[in-house]
Amino acid sequence: MKTSLQMVFAQKSFQASPVLLEVEHLSKCFVTNGSGEIAVLQDIGFRVRRGELVCILGRSGCGKSTLLKILAGFTAPSSGTVLLNSRTVTGPGPDRCMVFQEDALFGWLTVRENIAFGLKGRSMSRGEKEKEVDRFLSLVGLADFGDYLPVEISGGMKQRVSLARVLILQPEVLLMDEPFAALDAQTREQMQDLLLRLWGKLSHTIVFVTHDVGEAVLLADRILIFNQAPGSIKEEIHIDLPRPRSKDDNRYYALCRSITSKIKAV
Ligand SMILES: Nc1ncnc2c1ncn2[C@@H]1O[C@H](COP(=O)(O)OP(=O)(O)OP(=O)(O)O)[C@@H](O)[C@H]1O
Ligand SMILES: [Mg+2]
Repeated sequence: MKTSLQMVFAQKSFQASPVLLEVEHLSKCFVTNGSGEIAVLQDIGFRVRRGELVCILGRSGCGKSTLLKILAGFTAPSSGTVLLNSRTVTGPGPDRCMVFQEDALFGWLTVRENIAFGLKGRSMSRGEKEKEVDRFLSLVGLADFGDYLPVEISGGMKQRVSLARVLILQPEVLLMDEPFAALDAQTREQMQDLLLRLWGKLSHTIVFVTHDVGEAVLLADRILIFNQAPGSIKEEIHIDLPRPRSKDDNRYYALCRSITSKIKAV
């Protein structure tokens, strides 16, 4: 008998979905005080389909965070374009949300208030907002912690709140910059599992940055391996391992080994 997670993934087929995000000939240079201009990203091009989970994998300093900030609209590219639904991204918007490595919760607000924060100004009744917050508290497994302050919960729980806080806004694209890197191995695995479950249920599109080859192989439909200085796409790898994936699967290890050797060669 299929588990509920298997059923969710069996129904998921984004290959026929429309392209949601298009990055074309994107480059970024920074002007620095010491060494003049540095090229950080060079001629990046890729597309992400609606509902797809794409991981960006590369060594420290290859421009992963810079790329995410450009996709989010926080930073402008030096040349090239980012299109979302065929419209050029010119700044931040409610269609894109970012989750960072360090939680960015408001320390003076409770878990529930943190999750509700982004709904301010939305045309929903107070009751509807409460119901939506309850739904997302449950989805991330924090139904009993709504009244806690961030200082009273663990690092993993904080990242659950961070996830709920952006997912409640129902962005078209979730941009995740090493969101689980600061967590211990066990909590990290729980968060990977949670993310996959939420992705299965809510079908959002995810661009996920990581250093960790195992994490990328576990999560991604497609991995973009980045070259370094300036960052460019070295290779694109489709991960066709069936879901849910297991770290005990020999094919998982074989993929991790081959991708690790590609990264070492960068
Ligand atoms: N605002 C900025 N001004 C000048 N240089 C910058 C700026 N932001 C990033 N850089 C430089 O761009 C390069 C890429 O930085 P970025 O943070 O995107 O790398 P990364 O791949 O995310 O690294 P890590 O894996 O360590 O997080 C680095 O050399 C960094 O010093
Ligand atoms: Mg980074």
